[in-house]
Amino acid sequence: MSPSRKLTIAIDGPAGSGKSTIAARVAKKLGYVNLESGAMYRALALKALEQQVPLDDADALRALAENTLIQLEPHGEGNQVLLDGRDVSRRIREADVTAAASRVSVHPPVRRLMVARQREMGSEGGVVMEGRDIGTAVFPDAEIKIFLDADANIRAERRLLQDGTRSAEEAQRLLADLATRDLRDRTREASPLVPARDALIIDTSRKSIDEVVAEVERIVAEKDIG
Ligand code: DC
Repeated sequence: MSPSRKLTIAIDGPAGSGKSTIAARVAKKLGYVNLESGAMYRALALKALEQQVPLDDADALRALAENTLIQLEPHGEGNQVLLDGRDVSRRIREADVTAAASRVSVHPPVRRLMVARQREMGSEGGVVMEGRDIGTAVFPDAEIKIFLDADANIRAERRLLQDGTRSAEEAQRLLADLATRDLRDRTREASPLVPARDALIIDTSRKSIDEVVAEVERIVAEKDIG
């Protein structure tokens, strides 16, 4: 199915809501480009760690971001992420970068720059962009806004399965990290994680990926006709 117009689809939600997988599958079905905005915060966080830029120094991080090239290349079920030309797709998923990305993304000057770049990347439509503030800040006029959510315990379980965590201590740490990031994302002053007023909220707790993808496809088809 390919819509007759090049729509902009915003998919937001917390970690473990199924966002990345669902956004990638929806994009593939529609022949759209899938962009993972979180990968940009992750890439910047990696560079900050490598260059020992303090994660609470908003101005230094903004300056670092201005001098950083981050490219997202849609690739299979995710994005290949290039940081100043270097493939960091795997490295940015590691725990230290995940924690740092959450801290880097609270700063308004950093967000303003990222949002401007994300708008540019999706300016031609025909895009599924996923993140935390896509429907509220990046594309407030997106034709379709979906907010995926799920019970916190289920989201944590999904992450455990995904990461193949083994020991009880590792599992405990992962759950605690997820709760910390969740709280920071939802309570930060700049663009906190909240559904846009006109977003459709889908609770994925008890739904399979296929069911959610089908639901989003139905929403797109209705919008395309309407
Ligand atoms: O979706 P993710 O886990 O890759 O995101 C990494 C971090 O970046 C996460 O802590 C939230 C933040 N983020 C954000 O603030 N705004 C976005 N549009 C995407 C991610």
